[in-house]
Amino acid sequence: MLDRLEELYRQAADDLARITSSEALREWELGTIGRKGEITLMLRQTGQLPPEERAAFGKRANEIKNLLTQAHLEREELIREQELARSMEEGQVDVTLPGRVTPVGRLHPATRTLREIYDIWAEMGFQVYRSRDVETDEMNFELLNIPPHHPARDMWDTFYTTTPGVILRTHTSPGQVHAMREYGAGGTKPIRVILPGMCYRYEQITARSEVQFNQVEGLAIGPRIRMTDLKGTLTEFARRMFGADRQVRFRASHFPFTEPSAEVDVTCILCQGQGCGVCKHSGWLEIGGCGMVHPAVLRNGGYDPAVWSGFAFGIGPERITMLKHGIEDIRYFWSNDLRFLNQF
Ligand code: PHE
Repeated sequence: MLDRLEELYRQAADDLARITSSEALREWELGTIGRKGEITLMLRQTGQLPPEERAAFGKRANEIKNLLTQAHLEREELIREQELARSMEEGQVDVTLPGRVTPVGRLHPATRTLREIYDIWAEMGFQVYRSRDVETDEMNFELLNIPPHHPARDMWDTFYTTTPGVILRTHTSPGQVHAMREYGAGGTKPIRVILPGMCYRYEQITARSEVQFNQVEGLAIGPRIRMTDLKGTLTEFARRMFGADRQVRFRASHFPFTEPSAEVDVTCILCQGQGCGVCKHSGWLEIGGCGMVHPAVLRNGGYDPAVWSGFAFGIGPERITMLKHGIEDIRYFWSNDLRFLNQF
């Protein structure tokens, strides 16, 4: 019996040393030291031996079972390592390979300029007022002192829509009336807001004009606001936006919703006023329109023009971005060309 045990042990140990897969290892375990394995079964037969042999046999059988259990654990560990190494090789996983770079998005140049503009006006006490892109004819024109069929409408051709009286706004100026009505508390409170957003005009698309573009409207209403406030505030904005030595000029102009009205120019960013191709050799670049809010518009916003006054302006951030970066064609802005966008 003892001989048989030793024989089994040798055989099992030999087999174990040759095993290379975890399935074979599992089978070996079941056949030897498992619940119904040969070694286990032998151990159970100890009781049937003559009493004088029992102790020695039982001791040796237990010893062998422990040795095999230990050897099994070691083998198991070795096989696991080998299998891992093999699967790494087969799967061709090179853990030292650098990861793929995920492209990170960036802000559109127009958005960057808009944010720069918000910051400057915020420092001067103007809050951002968001107003709708889809407007009524009344808001976009009539309440801004532009009656139906008035020739001034020619400055802003609208897109045709199928709903009568509804249009896409051609400028951010209708936001003036929205802001006055919402923040003015019935014409009793001063206002300082900027109104940024997309505008839409039915125009021929060229290097200098698009059918959609951003504007930033500004509006200040107070009891004693004068033209000098408008000039001072816009001059300060231009200096903060384009540099401290920037010169600003106001040219008389006409808008139905401001009186008096002006266009704002700054000295050319590229040639510093010397005259170049971008400023058409004038030394000046136009950045927007402005003026004192017309009494009719103040009234439409709920204010008494005998007591309240205000100034308004509208600037074109795309134009400013073009001037700052020397972009010659406005069509780049909305054509989604990464060769353009990646430069910012
Ligand atoms: N809304 C005018 C335009 O689009 C600009 C403007 C705004 C002029 C406010 C005066 C005051 O041309």
